[in-house]
Amino acid sequence: MTILNFGSVNIDHVYRVEHLVRPGETIASQDYHHFSGGKGFNQSIALARAGAAVSHAGRIGGDGVWLREQLAGEGADVRLLEVIDGPSGHAIIQVDATGENAIILFGGANRTITPTAAEEILDSFGGKDWLLLQNEISSMREILQLAGERGLRIVFNPAPMAAEVLDYPLDGVSIFVLNEVEGEAFTGATEPEAILAGMRRRFPTATVVLTLGADGAIYDDGAQRIHVPAQPVQAVDTTAAGDTFIGYFLAGLSAGDAPQAALELATRAAAICVTRPGAAPSIPRREEVSSEQ
Ligand code: RIB
Repeated sequence: MTILNFGSVNIDHVYRVEHLVRPGETIASQDYHHFSGGKGFNQSIALARAGAAVSHAGRIGGDGVWLREQLAGEGADVRLLEVIDGPSGHAIIQVDATGENAIILFGGANRTITPTAAEEILDSFGGKDWLLLQNEISSMREILQLAGERGLRIVFNPAPMAAEVLDYPLDGVSIFVLNEVEGEAFTGATEPEAILAGMRRRFPTATVVLTLGADGAIYDDGAQRIHVPAQPVQAVDTTAAGDTFIGYFLAGLSAGDAPQAALELATRAAAICVTRPGAAPSIPRREEVSSEQ
């Protein structure tokens, strides 16, 4: 069984700074690197490194062919990742002394996906297939609608959150993986318990995984509630920690692991990710995660 990840691919320009730049301020960066990234790309890398069969659909420009090769090198199926004229998506990322980040996105090729192109891709999937989505590509509304009609098991990570997400056709979503900011946008609540209650009211049949950063994550499928604490680590760069969590969680779940085991695996993988710089390059391989037990 394949997981289709229909998502973004970015070139990340990462600047290490003493503090995140303030309005009107100019600061010098202490360091600069460019990495592969994009929430979609990172989640595909995490899935592949966790051992899942993943097919990545999306778009890049000619400047992003190396990203396609990197993904293929990890064992992901990249036949649905199209190279088009124009620039790839990119991200300008500041990382401060505590490992916290601030990100500006340029959509590029990620934002050229049309409803027709999305339909052609989704035509080859149905029934038992999983579809993983974030919110960095165009035609999200149509993708969600078509996937729901085809009965795909949709896992939705509403990141980055935007006002239009609240109007997406989300009734077909099986699993939401979201953080507190995204949870607040859906429910108006700020406390984890209230967010989970609000999500249950709004999406009665969906499973919700609420990630809480240093406080771990809470899983709620309506029948059971699981809290998995985060592993204490010294954060160097938190970029892609959420993506790592999602890829590992879904890899575990789709392989038949119980939610508790999938959550624990994902938590260990995310803890390793934050101890390393960069997005995709910081995502651990399965052997490293298992040996952390
Ligand atoms: O989640 C981290 C990712 O967000 C980065 O790799 C960046 O490209 C942005 O999409």
